[in-house]
Amino acid sequence: MSNARSIEVAFLSKTAAKKEMMDLAAELAAHDKRYHQEDAPVISDAEYDALRQRYLALEERFPEFAVKGGPGDKVGAAPLEKFGKVKHAKSMLSLDNAFDDGDVEDFAERVRRFLSLSDKDELAFTAEPKIDGLSASLRYEKGELITGATRGDGQVGEDVTQNLKTIGDIPHRLKGKNIPDVFEVRGEVYMAHEDFFALNARQEKEGKPVFANPRNAAAGSLRQLDSSITASRPLRFFAYAWGEVSGLPAETQFGVIEVFKEMGFQINPLMQRVTTVEEMIKVYGKIGDMRATLSYDIDGVVYKVDRLDYQERLGFVSRSPRWAIAHKFPPEQAMTVLEDIDIQVGRTGALTPVAKLRPVTVGGVVVSNATLHNEDEIARKGILIGDWVIVQRAGDVIPQVVGPVKDKRTGEEREFEFPTSCPVCGSHAVREHREGSDKLDAVRRCEGGLTCPAQAVERLKHFVSREGLDIEGLGAKQVEAFYTEGRIKEPADIFKLQSDDGAREDKLADKEGWGETSVRNLFAAIEARREVDLDRLIFALGIRHVGATTARLLARTYGSMAEFIQQMELAADRSSEAWADLNAIDGIGLIVAEAIVEFFAEGHNREAVGKLMAEVRDIPLAAADLSSPVAGKTVVFTGKLELMSRSEAKARAESLGAKVAGSVSAKTDILVAGPGAGSKLKKAAELGVETLTEDEWLKLIGG
Ligand code: IVH
Repeated sequence: MSNARSIEVAFLSKTAAKKEMMDLAAELAAHDKRYHQEDAPVISDAEYDALRQRYLALEERFPEFAVKGGPGDKVGAAPLEKFGKVKHAKSMLSLDNAFDDGDVEDFAERVRRFLSLSDKDELAFTAEPKIDGLSASLRYEKGELITGATRGDGQVGEDVTQNLKTIGDIPHRLKGKNIPDVFEVRGEVYMAHEDFFALNARQEKEGKPVFANPRNAAAGSLRQLDSSITASRPLRFFAYAWGEVSGLPAETQFGVIEVFKEMGFQINPLMQRVTTVEEMIKVYGKIGDMRATLSYDIDGVVYKVDRLDYQERLGFVSRSPRWAIAHKFPPEQAMTVLEDIDIQVGRTGALTPVAKLRPVTVGGVVVSNATLHNEDEIARKGILIGDWVIVQRAGDVIPQVVGPVKDKRTGEEREFEFPTSCPVCGSHAVREHREGSDKLDAVRRCEGGLTCPAQAVERLKHFVSREGLDIEGLGAKQVEAFYTEGRIKEPADIFKLQSDDGAREDKLADKEGWGETSVRNLFAAIEARREVDLDRLIFALGIRHVGATTARLLARTYGSMAEFIQQMELAADRSSEAWADLNAIDGIGLIVAEAIVEFFAEGHNREAVGKLMAEVRDIPLAAADLSSPVAGKTVVFTGKLELMSRSEAKARAESLGAKVAGSVSAKTDILVAGPGAGSKLKKAAELGVETLTEDEWLKLIGG
């Protein structure tokens, strides 16, 4: 059932390539017409781009079949000049999600536990709509708007000051007395429905492309290099948070937001203060009921701990605050026909069935692909090819097929036969036995490893992803093209791109969509990544189960790539100290530990990492951490802590650069023991590990 288009260009026969190119050219021309003349696109921009890239890759390899007047004939758009960069003084975070009442209850409970609050202590939250736009940070110095930036990756955003200044809701000067010297206000740039429809009508009249939804329209309007274009777009702004501030005008979230209003900002009128989970859920219901009548898009309700001293103590985990959560509205659904099922091969070789749908609009976006997860899922849902199915989109996640509408069956539908070989490289695709069970793993995997082009490309995409190397100008699309053209086969090749380009005939600068400037920028961005944070580097390797949080833990624990690799090789021996140490890291379980060790047990992985390390240098985690008396020390907490919860203690220790372990060993530097400590205390005494009471510990770290 594999679609010819999932076969790598390099493997296509001439006849297949020629036919595909003609088909693609015709298909793209039809999409162009629908988009520009009929204003009724049936595929998303991303899907269109994917088709176009595929055509261009084919044309690159088989120039003799180039279709006259086809996609390859068009002159590429001149590369955009870039916005300047702004490093956020405080990172711009994202929010954790709650999907049901239980998640909200768990959140409130978690906060209480972290702060060691009893049921009687008051714990208030603000509740407000989650605006579906894009966030921006406005820096005021002495009351004057100095810089305005997009969120970017949370650390570094784009300087869109001039554009933000065109938004009526954003004051150029803060109103009121006692304005702190530095005051960063954050909030959401959005477009109201009526403005969105009017803008699209205008675009249409002028023969320009229309936007899929208000959020895209807002984002597209804000990121204009010419701020007079932004000025002509009706953008608005709600203020709901802050970044670096030299003083705060209130002690609660609610209080600060009210002052925002006095300073001249728009604040959301539906924000309120609540003190119980029941009230939170009631507000959620109320705002949900109003959703259809509001003049702007919202996708949930955000709860934030009201007291700022509590927010301070709660701090962050990964890239989200512990003191806030977004309670999402249920996903929007639609019904359409499942026309076929394609198989995609992922980074770890997983074969994922993808539903090919008759295009349908779900929550403002045209959907024509959706994930079906794995073969059991298809069977469990009883989905047949040709079925009418319910499709849903939940926020930004990939659309899903909920299930078939059995009443609409005609008898023409047929079962899907899941392939047992990889549609890309032809290797066997197997379902492994789950360890210690006779059950089969849900996922069928291609056994081709890195010899499978699909896996190699997916690993490269992961390598350059946002939380990985995050190289400007080198995204998934470019990686795919570079792989196909033989410019990049493995991570280390990225750093040789420039020298190799010098030796190649098909210079990057001559490729469509590129030019001298963009190539120079790309090479500069790559050079800048020769020094890279250790946690990013570990994440980028794409070890199974190792996400950004685990990568940070590993970076903190091992301190350098060399040490990490060496320890993981030693850990292959399950009776080694290295294996015990890995498992003792708080937050790393057996499955993760095994995945890491297995990764380094593979010769080709070790080789690829070795080559990579010849090109880059790893930067250990934040140098600031090193100044604290517990930096680099391994700490274990045991017994009952009385002044703070276990998780708060752990978070504090980690923020000071300590590693927190779950068990005592010769590697432990400090055991913090509260009342009721037992075996760990005994073991520490045996090993001569320094033991502190909670009070002594607090004194050591400065209260
Ligand atoms: S608070 C530290 N409040 O949601 C928390 N965010 O997933 C900062 N958003 O990037 C965010 N409405 O773009 C907050 N009322 C609201 C929001 C809101 C929308 C967006 C924001 C942020 C994303 C987090």
